[in-house]
Amino acid sequence: MHKISKLAVLTSGGDAPGMNPCIRSIVRTAIYNGLEVVGIRRGYQGLIEDDMFPMGTRSVSNILNLGGTILKTARCLPFRTDEGQEIAYQNLKKRGIDALVVIGGDGTFTGALRFSKSYPDVAVMGVPGTIDNDLYGSTYTLGFDTATNTVIEAIDKIRDTADAHDRLFFIEVMGRDSGAIALRAGISCGAEAILLPEKETAIDDLIENLKSGQSKKKSSSIVIVAEGDKHGGAYDIAKLVEKQVKNYDIKVTILGHLQRGGSPSAFDRVLGSRLGFAAVNALIAGKTQMMVGLEANYIKITSLEEALTQHEFKLEEDLMKMAEILSI
Ligand code: F6P
Repeated sequence: MHKISKLAVLTSGGDAPGMNPCIRSIVRTAIYNGLEVVGIRRGYQGLIEDDMFPMGTRSVSNILNLGGTILKTARCLPFRTDEGQEIAYQNLKKRGIDALVVIGGDGTFTGALRFSKSYPDVAVMGVPGTIDNDLYGSTYTLGFDTATNTVIEAIDKIRDTADAHDRLFFIEVMGRDSGAIALRAGISCGAEAILLPEKETAIDDLIENLKSGQSKKKSSSIVIVAEGDKHGGAYDIAKLVEKQVKNYDIKVTILGHLQRGGSPSAFDRVLGSRLGFAAVNALIAGKTQMMVGLEANYIKITSLEEALTQHEFKLEEDLMKMAEILSI
C-alpha cells in the first residue's frame, strides 16, 4: 500500500469552472491530514520544467468564485514521450513527492495512467475536469454545469433578437465529440433543433422541421449545433439549409471560448469541493491509478483504465425525444 506524505496537484487540458474550488479542497484536505502540498503550474508542462511551489491553507483563500485555474493549464506534447515522463518523475522524486492529483479530461488521464504504470511509486488520482462532460465514471464533470448555464444565458439573448427580426439562428457550442452541452442547452432554451455528434444529422429532416415551424408561424428558430457534428460547423450547416429554406433570414453565432470562463455555479463549487476531498482521502487510503467521480449523488471511484476504455458517447434518446416533442 502507498503511504503518502507529500502530494502535488496540477490542472491540465482545457480549463473548466470548478477547478479552483477543487484545488482549494485538495490543498486543505491534504493539510488537514498532515500532508505537505505542492502546486504544479501549467499542468504536465510545469511538471517537466520543474515549475512547482509549496501550497498552504492561505494560498487557496478566496478562489471558490474564480473561473479558470490558479495553477494555469496547458496541453503538453513532451509528456507523451518516455523522455518527458522520465524528467517528470525525477522532478517529483527530488522533491520527495509521492502522490499526484491530476484535474482534467481524458487526455490528462491517459498521460497520468501511462506515467503511473512506468513509475508506480508515485500514487496517481484523477479528478474529471472538463466542460465536455464526456468521462466514464462520473455523471458530471467539473465545469459542465457552469458552461451550460453560460450557453443558456447567451442563447436567451440571441432568442430576443432572433424573435425581433423573425430570424433563423445556427448557434455552435463546444463539447469536442460530446453533445452534452448542446442537448442540455437545447432543452433549456427550447431550440427548434439540436444537432449532436452522437446522432447522424439528417439534413432533410432538419429542413422539414424548419419549414413546418414556418407554416406554424414560429417567429424565430434556433438550431444548436454541437461542434463535433459530422456535417461540420454551424456555418457549413447553415449553408446547406440556406439553399432549401426560403424566406428565412439566416444568422450564425459561434459561442467559442466564452463557454469556458466565468465564476463556477453552485453545483460546480460543491462538485469541485467533493471530488477534491474524495481524491485526497482515496490517496490516503492507499488507492492509485483511479479517478474519483459522482454517480447518483455519491462519490464513486473508477480505475483510470476503465474510465479510459469505457469512454463512449451514447445518445440520450429519451432527452432528445423530449426536446423534439417540446419544441413543436
Ligand atoms: O475540452 C474542452 C474544450 O473546450 C472543447 O469543448 C473544445 O473542443 C476544446 O476544449 C478547445 O480547445 P482549445 O482551448 O485548446 O482550443
